[in-house]
Amino acid sequence: MIAKGLFPNIRMRRMRRDDFSRRLMREHVLTADDLIYPVFVLDGASRSEAVPSMPGIERMTLDRLLPVAERALKLGIPALALFPVIDAGLKSPGAEEAWNPDGLVARTVQALKRELPELGVICDVALDPYTSHGQDGLIDPDDPRGYVLNDETLEALAKQALCQSQAGADVVAPSDMMDGRIARIRAELDAHRQIHTRILAYSAKYASSFYGPFRDAVGSAGNLGAGNKYTYQMDPANTDEALREVAMDIEEGADMVMVKPGMPYLDIVRRVKDEFGVPTYAYQVSGEYAMLKAAAQNGWLDGEATMMEALLSFKRAGADGILSYFALEAAEVLRRE
Ligand code: PBG
Repeated sequence: MIAKGLFPNIRMRRMRRDDFSRRLMREHVLTADDLIYPVFVLDGASRSEAVPSMPGIERMTLDRLLPVAERALKLGIPALALFPVIDAGLKSPGAEEAWNPDGLVARTVQALKRELPELGVICDVALDPYTSHGQDGLIDPDDPRGYVLNDETLEALAKQALCQSQAGADVVAPSDMMDGRIARIRAELDAHRQIHTRILAYSAKYASSFYGPFRDAVGSAGNLGAGNKYTYQMDPANTDEALREVAMDIEEGADMVMVKPGMPYLDIVRRVKDEFGVPTYAYQVSGEYAMLKAAAQNGWLDGEATMMEALLSFKRAGADGILSYFALEAAEVLRRE
């Protein structure tokens, strides 16, 4: 007779013992269907340029982008997110280039939809690539602090989103954090019978320091200078405010919502998914990518293993998909497996 308590009566390790039982009880899987691949688009003569703070990521002209987009499609990635690099000469205080029907984004969308119609195309709605001051909205010329005007900006965003939609974008993704933008953009799209265009609202977008490499990549860091986005992006200290933002965006007509950044904000992803049950995405931003790449390049982390683990963490937190600079690389790994 063996005395009670001498042995554990529940052995969690039994299920972990073999590959078959580990697989049987696995709750979450990452597939290529979960991934959105962000790309930086250049105008002008054919070229691609490395982004120093984002090893493995290049900014490229359309001719170089098309084969990359085709590769993404073949690997099963559902959609690309376009981020334009706008020539300094085209930036202005009023960001008029943002709704130029012959502008870089419109031309890129048209070409992608012509060549690879099944690949989803997502366009960012925000003025920062186009403003000479680097803010996501229009600024008040009479305010010494350069306050970003809300309602005036909404008019610009509506024009930008309509332009993207008319060029063929499947999804417009407002990342500007102005109040009322989803309603204003939805009204503009409806008024022009662009009824199939999906809105992916960056509902909970935080004023994060993890965006640094992105601002270098699109060339907005210099324009923004010592400025910040605290008057419209959310305070990293807040959670309930994120839920209010999401509730409003759904109410105003968003089809999908985004939490951004990603890994440092998985608690928000979980709360949003639990509370609303709408299609919920997370943006693993440039700084998150840079951290993992830098550690891998130093031999401090296993790059591939940490990439896959980080992406899986979003699924575990409840995300339906992940916008990630790792998308192509991860899809290659998934294909190999
Ligand atoms: C701007 C925008 C930003 C990112 C995407 N769209 C930066 C910002 O708000 O300054 C950052 C994405 C990243 O860091 O990967 N509308």
